[in-house]
Amino acid sequence: MFVHLLFFQVPLKPGRSLMDWIRLTKSGKDLTGLKGRLIEVTEDELAKHNTKEDCWICIRGFVYNVTPYMEYHPGGEDELMKAAGTDGTDLFDQVHRWVNYESMLKECLVGRMAVKPVAAPKGMVPEKKVLSASVKDLTPSYDWFQTESLITVVIYTKQKDMNAELVIVDCQDKRLRGEVVVGDQSYLVNVDLDNAVQEDMAVNITEKVGKVEIILKKKDNVHWEKLGQPLESHNTFIKRTDRGLFYRKCKLVSKTEVTHDTKLFCLTLPKSTHLRVPAGQHVYLKQIIAGTEVVKPYTPVLPFLPLDFKEPSHHDGGHIYLMIKIYSHGLFTQALDHLQIGDYISVSSPEGNFKKSQVQSLEDLFLLAAGTGFTPMVKLLDFALAQVSSLRRVKLIFFNKTEDDILWRDQLEQLALKDERFEVQFVLSQPTKDWVGKEGKISSSLLSEFVKRSRKDSKVLICICGPTPFTEQGVQYLKDLGYSQEEIHAFTA
Ligand SMILES: Cc1cc2nc3c(=O)[nH]c(=O)nc-3n(C[C@H](O)[C@H](O)[C@H](O)COP(=O)(O)OP(=O)(O)OC[C@H]3O[C@@H](n4cnc5c(N)ncnc54)[C@H](O)[C@@H]3O)c2cc1C
Ligand code: HEM
Repeated sequence: MFVHLLFFQVPLKPGRSLMDWIRLTKSGKDLTGLKGRLIEVTEDELAKHNTKEDCWICIRGFVYNVTPYMEYHPGGEDELMKAAGTDGTDLFDQVHRWVNYESMLKECLVGRMAVKPVAAPKGMVPEKKVLSASVKDLTPSYDWFQTESLITVVIYTKQKDMNAELVIVDCQDKRLRGEVVVGDQSYLVNVDLDNAVQEDMAVNITEKVGKVEIILKKKDNVHWEKLGQPLESHNTFIKRTDRGLFYRKCKLVSKTEVTHDTKLFCLTLPKSTHLRVPAGQHVYLKQIIAGTEVVKPYTPVLPFLPLDFKEPSHHDGGHIYLMIKIYSHGLFTQALDHLQIGDYISVSSPEGNFKKSQVQSLEDLFLLAAGTGFTPMVKLLDFALAQVSSLRRVKLIFFNKTEDDILWRDQLEQLALKDERFEVQFVLSQPTKDWVGKEGKISSSLLSEFVKRSRKDSKVLICICGPTPFTEQGVQYLKDLGYSQEEIHAFTA
């Protein structure tokens, strides 16, 4: 099973899968014990429901009776109990803010909190936070202009190092949503436009002065009185992770086999979307399965591994490529595999805690991947080889069960032949007799053999991604070998 997180998903009892839960919620059973009635819940009342047999949790101002969900929670009963009888918003967000609890727990809704909950709803921020003196100076602002045929929205980010990856723009059904990422913060322009615009849109970024222009084409050459009506969280500057995930529908344009169980999905972004997924970040896909919204994270890759890094590669921004292992009993991946070419699927804006600055000025980059834990390594490899001039060596150590499971083996071998900085090592846990390469699982001795600095005190980064036990053990072995926390990056959700 593939789990990126540094938590263990507990084995659930038979009959307690997500699908079983969805079935129970559709059964018409009274899951709150309130016969569908919604009530106002005081803090005192909430606190009374704090046992496994009677457990209420408040998330973003809404109270749920999670008692029936207890045995179905993939993180286990004890984890869920940490929030019993309290406002679990922060805890929930720390672990899995993408999980679509509103949809999954809609039959468990008890009601609203009577008093204002402590945690602010997503996207809303107490006034003083936005206006605090130190932040105010750096708060981006926006303005707009028009000609006969164009509307230009300008965002002044006040940042010197703006780039296309920090700007996410969507314009659908007259709704313009422009988000700019500034460090850990996000600035949002969100308006219902005064008049209709055409589908295609341009985004210009003047990197040095941090100016972002969104250029829209008017549908009719009329004079606009105003840009439009403000929508939720318009003109706010808040912590990036406090914004709800935003999804747009992308069309599946191709699906190709990578190995016996893994496929490369190519999705096209709408013409009116500007979005780039930076190296090391993931997106969330959302599908409605049996009437319930289900969300899972995936890490975009490139259509193939580039072989030549002399010219800066121009990856076309209009597509998102995902390399996905289809589990025979997997809920989400089975539904994905059943999508037809031309079907649509919701894709979120990117997130992730990897920063490209971790790779800047590196000399040695080691990538430890197991199975589909290879996916974040693809863009990372490309970025490091193409743009990090100090880089001397990149080494990928790729763990799989059998030879048939190795993703993009030919491409990796070709790249190793072509670029002397790159080296790849395959390690198999269940090889056939003919396998002449390395055999085994991740271990201290294997890592001490493969992970070596090219010179004493060289600047090194070791990235690791795979199932939880793989990642946890790997990190421990590396620490035991003397690598510091800053020299190790584990990919998690
Ligand atoms: C940040 C991040 C990035 C990711 N990127 C990628 C990526 O690029 N490509 C990719 O393929 N995956 C990726 N994943 C994994 C992905 O999000 C899903 O977890 C994966 O696709 C499985 O989804 P599923 O619903 O089909 O399977 P699930 O229904 O979750 O089942 C997966 C397997 O586990 C078994 N199983 C399910 N529940 C249990 C249980 N309780 N006990 C024992 N066994 C169980 C199932 O039978 C099945 O074999 C990523 C995960 C994270 C956190
Ligand atoms: C607020 C307290 C909660 C805590 C501390 C908590 C903790 C956890 C942990 C540790 C995991 C395992 C990590 C993983 O493998 O994904 C997990 C998984 C999960 N939890 Fe929770 N949880 C909480 C509340 C909830 C609630 C209210 C829901 C309601 C739907 C929920 C739904 C899920 C789901 C769907 C997963 C599986 C995620 C995936 O792998 O796709 N959790 N949780």
